[in-house]
Amino acid sequence: ISALFILLCVRGLSSSSGPRVCIVGGGPAGFYTAQQLLKARQDAAVDIYERLPVPFGLVRFGVAPDHPEVKNVINTFTQTAQHERCSFHGNVNVGKDVTIDELRQAYHAVVLSYGAEGNRSMGIPGEDLPGVFSAKDFVGWYNGLPSNKELHPDLSFETAVILGQGNVALDVARILLAPVEMLKETDITQNALEALAGSKVRRVLIVGRRGPLQIACTIKELREMVNLPNTRADMLPADFEGIAEALKDLPRPRKRLTELMMKAVKEGGDDKAEKCWGLRFFRSPVEVLAGADEKRAAGIRLALNKLEGSGESVRAEVTGQLEDVDCGLIISSIGYKSIPIDPAVPFDPRRAIVPNEMGRVQDTAGLYCSGWVKRGPTGVIATTMNDSFDTARVLIQDMEAGKLDLSVNKPGAQAITALLQTRGVRMVLFSQWEKINAEEEKRGKSLGKAREKLLDVDEMLKIAWS
Ligand SMILES: Cc1cc2nc3c(=O)[nH]c(=O)nc-3n(C[C@H](O)[C@H](O)[C@H](O)COP(=O)(O)OP(=O)(O)OC[C@H]3O[C@@H](n4cnc5c(N)ncnc54)[C@H](O)[C@@H]3O)c2cc1C
Ligand SMILES: NC(=O)c1ccc[n+]([C@@H]2O[C@H](COP(=O)([O-])OP(=O)(O)OC[C@H]3O[C@@H](n4cnc5c(N)ncnc54)[C@H](OP(=O)(O)O)[C@@H]3O)[C@@H](O)[C@H]2O)c1
Ligand SMILES: *[C@@H]1O[C@H](CO)[C@@H](O)[C@H](O)[C@H]1NC(C)=O
Ligand SMILES: *[C@@H]1O[C@H](CO)[C@@H](O)[C@H](O)[C@H]1NC(C)=O
Repeated sequence: ISALFILLCVRGLSSSSGPRVCIVGGGPAGFYTAQQLLKARQDAAVDIYERLPVPFGLVRFGVAPDHPEVKNVINTFTQTAQHERCSFHGNVNVGKDVTIDELRQAYHAVVLSYGAEGNRSMGIPGEDLPGVFSAKDFVGWYNGLPSNKELHPDLSFETAVILGQGNVALDVARILLAPVEMLKETDITQNALEALAGSKVRRVLIVGRRGPLQIACTIKELREMVNLPNTRADMLPADFEGIAEALKDLPRPRKRLTELMMKAVKEGGDDKAEKCWGLRFFRSPVEVLAGADEKRAAGIRLALNKLEGSGESVRAEVTGQLEDVDCGLIISSIGYKSIPIDPAVPFDPRRAIVPNEMGRVQDTAGLYCSGWVKRGPTGVIATTMNDSFDTARVLIQDMEAGKLDLSVNKPGAQAITALLQTRGVRMVLFSQWEKINAEEEKRGKSLGKAREKLLDVDEMLKIAWS
């Protein structure tokens, strides 16, 4: 009788344990995919694996410190992490500590949501000279990304040039020019705050290869530049030739954005302002110019362009003319880039994404993707939410269509935890992240700030496991 009982129990257990899904990456895509899966399948269990000991991806390490309201999504992510059928495992570098094949064996399905951890390169001579930074690293520096804590950008030059005109470029420009009073109560790192307080940067040029009608930023971010105290706009009216005539045919958001730029061209702003910013159009970077000592960047050579074609898909073609700009700080903000993390997973090196159809990874049953690694490194958090919900829906459809074999029991986190243990990898659970969180808030409070981020992974781990 007892043997039969045990057998029934085991069978009962195995048939009652529902689908187990693993998510790689604890940023918006990971959390929104988990949220939708948990909601749509009352029997699903979802485990999130994150490389860092801390969650939230670019909400923590990308979103600008002076945009705290954007970070409110952390509350929703926290609810998901605390859901009884969800668990968060930080400090696990997937691809190194555990392979995708190992995860696929332990789970019914695996979703790749690991974002875009690389930067696109300009591919021009001098790009690697000191004084040149990728926006990814510069943003990581002021936002406390552990790998960027030693960046030490030299801010003792008057002019900074930012290449690219997306919202990241405007974030960087704003942080460089904002009065320290605007930043000092935010969660910007104390390091960065002190460096910015001593900054000599007075002029920031934001350079685009195409024209005003193709600028990639949005109006809210442009308005913040226009409204910066003690800072005026310094634009080139010649860049705006013919724009007034084109206005009437533009879709409304682009029209308003363009009108705001034209207003800034016309009014310029307070003549007594000590600092200035300017958009520069029709200019592509061709070479970073070294100073006389050949040791660091002292300027940038730009090629002047003309546009071919029309609308937003127009291309920039060089005219043959060149222009040199003196500057000691160059920030390349031409986009982030996903990187492959495991040779067993298909990767499209040209588009720098995991090739997929509606979130189903090409040629790999049971493997899915969401967020920037699925679509490429563009789109706001709401875009990432939508596409993560889409991936979760597709995954559930596949479950319901019998495309994933749910009849086999999968061990999930239990097996992975044991495996990681044999490799000397210890995880940070969500409750342990909350200790880090509490410590950061405490340190912030004593400095009059929202939070003071820990910059050192070992220190994070010490507090997490204390
Ligand atoms: C500088 C900047 C500012 C932004 N500001 C805003 C804003 O103000 N408002 C807005 O709506 N949107 C903003 N965005 C866009 C928004 O951040 C993205 O849409 C969103 O973060 C993309 O989510 P994701 O989960 O795909 O990637 P990510 O946020 O990058 O998350 C990926 C996660 O995966 C982890 N990971 C990476 N590799 C591994 C691995 N091998 N194993 C395990 N985990 C791994 C990473 O550590 C990270 O936590 C900003 C983007 C940037 C770059
Ligand atoms: N506040 C916010 O809401 C916020 C803040 C930050 C980021 N984000 C979002 O995050 C996403 C990523 O932002 P992003 O600024 O990195 O990307 P982005 O919006 O795609 O902008 C990239 C910029 O780089 C330029 N560029 C690309 N390749 C280039 C090259 N080889 N040479 C010269 N210029 C080049 C692009 O010009 P072309 O147009 O000519 O290609 C564009 O101006 C965006 O969707 C953005 O809206 C949002
Ligand atoms: C960006 O990444 C590449 C590697 O892909 C690197 O060589 C380059 O120096 C980085 N920085 C900049 C500013 O592009
Ligand atoms: C997200 O999806 C909703 C519903 O389909 C849509 O109304 C909204 O515009 C989308 N948002 C973004 C940023 O794509």
